Amino acid sequence: MGKIFSFFNQKGGVGKTTSVVNIAAVIAAFGKKVLLIDLDSQGNATSGLGIEKNENESTAYQLLVENSDPNESIKKTEIENLSIVPSNAHLSGAEMHLISRDQREFVLREQLKKISGSYDFILLDCPPSLGLTSINALTSSDYIIIPLQCEYYALEGLGQLLNTFQLVKKNLSVNLELGGVILTMADIRTNLTQQVIEEVRNYFKEKVFQAVIPRSVKLSEAPSFGKPAVIYDPHNRGSQAYVELGKEFLVRFGSDEDRQKISEKGAEAFTVKSVTPESNETKSEETKTVTSETTVETVTSDNGTEAEPQAASETSSTTPTNS
Ligand SMILES: Nc1ncnc2c1ncn2[C@@H]1O[C@H](COP(=O)(O)OP(=O)(O)OP(=O)(O)O)[C@@H](O)[C@H]1O
Ligand SMILES: [Mg+2]
Repeated sequence: MGKIFSFFNQKGGVGKTTSVVNIAAVIAAFGKKVLLIDLDSQGNATSGLGIEKNENESTAYQLLVENSDPNESIKKTEIENLSIVPSNAHLSGAEMHLISRDQREFVLREQLKKISGSYDFILLDCPPSLGLTSINALTSSDYIIIPLQCEYYALEGLGQLLNTFQLVKKNLSVNLELGGVILTMADIRTNLTQQVIEEVRNYFKEKVFQAVIPRSVKLSEAPSFGKPAVIYDPHNRGSQAYVELGKEFLVRFGSDEDRQKISEKGAEAFTVKSVTPESNETKSEETKTVTSETTVETVTSDNGTEAEPQAASETSSTTPTNS
């Protein structure tokens, strides 16, 4: 059974989608079978992985509302081992339909039971709300991953978020655990960012991932090219930080074999293969055409090509205040 993760924060624009897309690409490059489910009607994860938003016949909407065979909604992406259930604006109507359903909080969970055996990791990109779609994501998940933007208001709304997490656990009796906290959009030159990082680490302790994601123009422009930044521009500091984060993710949630692979190969380059998705009905390996290869180097020092201020070593050298 694959482990299921909700990337969740009801606050908008904190880096949920950027994190889920890049982590998915990195762990897929380590050979894990990954399914990303876009549960946001904005469809940012969908377009960020190069999938056309409006041309999809079967999407997360059908999965949630029409109780369709989940396999019909799964599309291959250009990245080997990474598939997606896309989303589009249609999904914004889903909650209205769900509300009258029996067991409405568990619709997604029932659907995912049918397919979780085919994946190592299922990553859910949640919308910025505490609505029924997010509740469905949380009841389906083994872990919640919380991206936090390193800014003054980072902790604002966190009480509400943690409250929702506890309520879902208690009232819906699910085995949901806090899997990790991701610090995003850090401008580590500023004292404010340093203070926020310290405060978050004091509060969440070892749950906070070591890799801190810096603010990076490349991270924000990659989606317009339909690629995760780790493939679009693997050498910039933001991508390097996500490679480190992806490795940490796998060390935390993967198998002994994964940890072994990372300790042996973690310092070497590894390859993310881009493949042309065949017709999404056919899933046979032979029909894949390799069109390009991008090397994602697991670099820890600051040799990024991006003209951004120093201190990228933050991504690997930040020591949690609680350790
Ligand atoms: N580290 C970063 N540096 C610079 N820009 C970033 C970074 N991370 C994300 N962005 C940009 O910030 C915006 C919000 O990021 P993202 O879409 O990942 O957040 P989100 O939490 O998924 O948002 P929403 O709540 O709307 O779904 C996007 O335009 C994204 O490209
Ligand atoms: Mg998003």
